[in-house]
Amino acid sequence: MKVLEEKHKLATRWFHWINFPILTLMIASGMLIYWSYDPYRIGLGDITLFHFFPDWFYDATHIDHKLAYGMALHFLFAWIFSFNGLAYVTYTVVSGEWRELAPEKKSFAEALQVVKHDMGLKVPLPPQGRYNAAQRITYSAIVVMGGLSLLTGLAIYKPAQLSWLTALLGGYEWARWEHFWLTMSYLGFFGIHIGQVIRAGWANFRSMICGYDVADATPEVKTHAG
Ligand code: HEM
Repeated sequence: MKVLEEKHKLATRWFHWINFPILTLMIASGMLIYWSYDPYRIGLGDITLFHFFPDWFYDATHIDHKLAYGMALHFLFAWIFSFNGLAYVTYTVVSGEWRELAPEKKSFAEALQVVKHDMGLKVPLPPQGRYNAAQRITYSAIVVMGGLSLLTGLAIYKPAQLSWLTALLGGYEWARWEHFWLTMSYLGFFGIHIGQVIRAGWANFRSMICGYDVADATPEVKTHAG
């Protein structure tokens, strides 16, 4: 007999689906700010080996000089991003769900096993709870990154009023650099996350929307419908 099994909690789904478009807007508006003045490059002294966005990029897209627009969007959505993130962390702590999310001692060895298995190598999957070891590490890291984006963002938003925070992060220039690289890391995360979602299949994606998955009835399964 098939039954419906609760997979993703209502609160988790709300926090996730609010975060997804907001994070996308934070990245897009942040890039509008960056494109109005883009100092980062790879080089030695005066020699530049690689500039992140070369001139032809701006000639083709006309995407630069949108600082005011980028800042207006960024500082509006920063509030929603921050409140949603803080509410999510509070929820996971109060509900005790953090226990299923935080990496354990064995998570790093197990995550390696999961990666090898996902790469198609003949390695058995370690026992899966609600979240496997790789997911525990990735999802906890992304929460920490969110907190760091907030802190580095505040440090460059109010460097005079929050001078202690800016100093703690290495000064204004460093805080800005950290803020930028966190953004690049989100892009890396997106790539891996979307790949994992596609790999996990349609049923998993559907349950991230409606909360339930169809499973075979076993005595251990929590059933909600026949
Ligand atoms: C995940 C969320 C966020 C992302 C992806 C993000 C991304 C970015 C990026 C790419 C830039 C341009 C960096 C540069 O030009 O070097 C930027 C600038 C900035 N961000 Fe964020 N940010 C986020 C959250 C926040 C938060 C929560 C605040 C808090 C107020 C904030 C405040 C700022 C400020 C003040 C600037 C610089 C504006 C300026 O140059 O005048 N950001 N952000």
